[in-house]
Amino acid sequence: MPAVGSSLPRKDAWDKVTGKAKYIDDYSYPNIVHISTVRSPVAYGKLGEIDFTEAKKIPGFIGHYTYNDIPGKNINPLVYTDQPFLANGYVRFYGEPIALIAAETPEAAEEAARRTKVQITPLEPVLSIDQAISESCTKIYSQDNTFTRYKIEKGAIDKGFAKARHIFENTYETPYQEHAYLETQGMIAVPGIEDTMTVYGSMQCPFYVHDAVSQILGLSKNKVKIVQATTGGGFGGKEDFPSILAGHAALVAKLTERPTKLVYHREEDIIASSKRHPGLIKIKIGTDDDGKILAAKIDYYLDGGAYSTLSPIVLWRGTVHALGPYVCDNVLINSAAVATNKVPCGAYRGFGSPQVIFAAETILDEIAHELKIDPIDLRRRNILTPGTTTVTSQEIGESCGLTETLDKAFEKANWKTKWSRPETKTDKIRKGIGVSTIYYGVGLGAGGKHLDRAGANMVLLRDGSVQCAVGNTEMGQGARTVLAQIAADSLGIPYNNIHVIETDTSLVPDSGPTVASRTTLMSGNAIVSAAKDLRSRIMPLIADLLQTTADDAELIDGKAFSKKNPPDKGGKSITFEDLTREFYNRRLMPSSFGWFIAPDTGFDQKNGQGNAYFTYSYCTNIAEVTVDTETGEIKVDTIIAAHDMGKAINPQQVEGQIQGGTLQGVGYCVMEEIRHDKNGKMLNDAFATYILPTFEDAPDIQPIIVEHPYSSGPFGAKGFGEVPLMGIAPAVANAVFNATGKRIRKLPVKPECLMEK
Ligand code: MTE
Repeated sequence: MPAVGSSLPRKDAWDKVTGKAKYIDDYSYPNIVHISTVRSPVAYGKLGEIDFTEAKKIPGFIGHYTYNDIPGKNINPLVYTDQPFLANGYVRFYGEPIALIAAETPEAAEEAARRTKVQITPLEPVLSIDQAISESCTKIYSQDNTFTRYKIEKGAIDKGFAKARHIFENTYETPYQEHAYLETQGMIAVPGIEDTMTVYGSMQCPFYVHDAVSQILGLSKNKVKIVQATTGGGFGGKEDFPSILAGHAALVAKLTERPTKLVYHREEDIIASSKRHPGLIKIKIGTDDDGKILAAKIDYYLDGGAYSTLSPIVLWRGTVHALGPYVCDNVLINSAAVATNKVPCGAYRGFGSPQVIFAAETILDEIAHELKIDPIDLRRRNILTPGTTTVTSQEIGESCGLTETLDKAFEKANWKTKWSRPETKTDKIRKGIGVSTIYYGVGLGAGGKHLDRAGANMVLLRDGSVQCAVGNTEMGQGARTVLAQIAADSLGIPYNNIHVIETDTSLVPDSGPTVASRTTLMSGNAIVSAAKDLRSRIMPLIADLLQTTADDAELIDGKAFSKKNPPDKGGKSITFEDLTREFYNRRLMPSSFGWFIAPDTGFDQKNGQGNAYFTYSYCTNIAEVTVDTETGEIKVDTIIAAHDMGKAINPQQVEGQIQGGTLQGVGYCVMEEIRHDKNGKMLNDAFATYILPTFEDAPDIQPIIVEHPYSSGPFGAKGFGEVPLMGIAPAVANAVFNATGKRIRKLPVKPECLMEK
């Protein structure tokens, strides 16, 4: 039975459910030093003297470190280079790291950090997008408080609106979202001989951490090694931020010449680490009488926080996806990521898309309502199908299963019998149903083209087992399992013979970040290529042993045989163990390396036209809700989630991703928010005050797998890890409208929002 397409058990499941898996806080080293961080108590201010007198009195105190102690550069190397590892001169957000304290115990380090006195002259902070873009606002970044701007221009927007019979225009707002991974951020740094440094940690992107550690220490990259420990969730929150922790841990390790440990408490993790960007989206759409979209003008703003970090690329993805999966000949999209004195925002599952998807899918529902068209029919009239073009004029080719996701979700939801206009509903407790259709560019696309490659190392060991090292990471999404399935079938040996090890920068060349749902496709293809190379030495050996040709030799599920004379017709077969023994006897090379470069994309950044991504995944969500119109209480009852991911390498893992992502989407829609006081201090920095959905809040999630294979993907797979979250909020908000007639244009939608007139 082939491994690909089977719901094989996860490689990491047993260790994780029994508690055997070791997360970073479970590790220790003799003579280890504990680190605590001194943080800014204001959102914006000029830094004065730092007084460590009281801190030094704490028993177990080892040392204190500021930007002055950094031997390399005090800049985290990302897209732009504006974020210091430790504040220098100014603090720009509440919670920004100013100094590090080293001590013999975590408690002593924390107490010493608490006793450190920092002189700061507070300055007037910039705290919202509106404030940042107003002309009179203080400039905290460049001439206009803007990190990046993009533009997409297709057709002639004025002509499109002139032709339109109906114009719809509205503004939408989306909130912060905290990643809420179960394991907080943490790193261990171990100094080695000959000025080397090894860092172990919880992270998504070891190669970013590699760059950061070599930069802060001023070491060449061959002296730095980054090893991923079992990682308890990332969701984008462990893309860029671990570089800061790793930098801090490595700095103190270098200066004390001892191993160091830095593990955040939940509160400081929430205060200091990146979040989903709050968004402000203004949309104007012109249609004909049938709801066909003729023109679309979109202005999209993101609140980037104090430093640019990943905002330029988050914004790029959001800009490209701003209209959703719809055909429109006349488009103008302008976008900007602005600076504020709040925590720097970064990657979060969906990467700048959930904000615009909420706006686009809501306005589509508004159009359907006003034009008295069923929202599903409206989508059928506008959605992308093979041969149509996106807002960037990219022609949709193979592997577009959007229509099938819509058809299947529509049938499964029994939409026809359930959907009726909101005016027809009068009960106190009301049911509603809503839909969203989305698409998502897999991989880094034209915006991150230079990073879109991946490598895989494969070694055939003497006992017939195979070890694979890849450059993308396992953070809970099932990557090591899915990659082992791809390796097994690419080689023709059993799944149990494959072990994919956790990522180590010294074993594989820089394979880019583990983001953008790219692992299955990128590392998967690198594995296919490594397996092909290894097989090029295995197959002639089989042919020789069976006295046949290499073309006639076959290896399936660890059994070697001749195709012309197979075992069920009396032919001879060789076990993989025997084959490996002979492979070693003949001193054939047992290792191979695969390298995959993403298929080409071509994009003109000036007008935002061209092939933004090499392929897209598609999804339709249908939500059903119950609303108590007296209390405003919303219960999300059911989510039907139909996804086209090309090929489901492991259907059970696909369903698991749909279950988890959907629940995060429910939280984004109906409960999650970060609150600040008027000075920019974050108010809800704990799980008691940052409200997340739990198992109790989980709707009945019904996944539907739709497979439209992508010919350049491993076994036809595209990748879809982020997609399950992305369309949930508008589907739920549209269902709330359907139940109550109350339109939601700002998330989260809480009971009090429904009670507002
Ligand atoms: N699933 C779990 N359990 N934990 C995670 O941290 N991250 C999500 C998604 N699913 C995540 C997850 C994000 S943000 C991404 S980009 C993809 O997984 C990355 O995995 P892939 O590249 O294997 O699709």
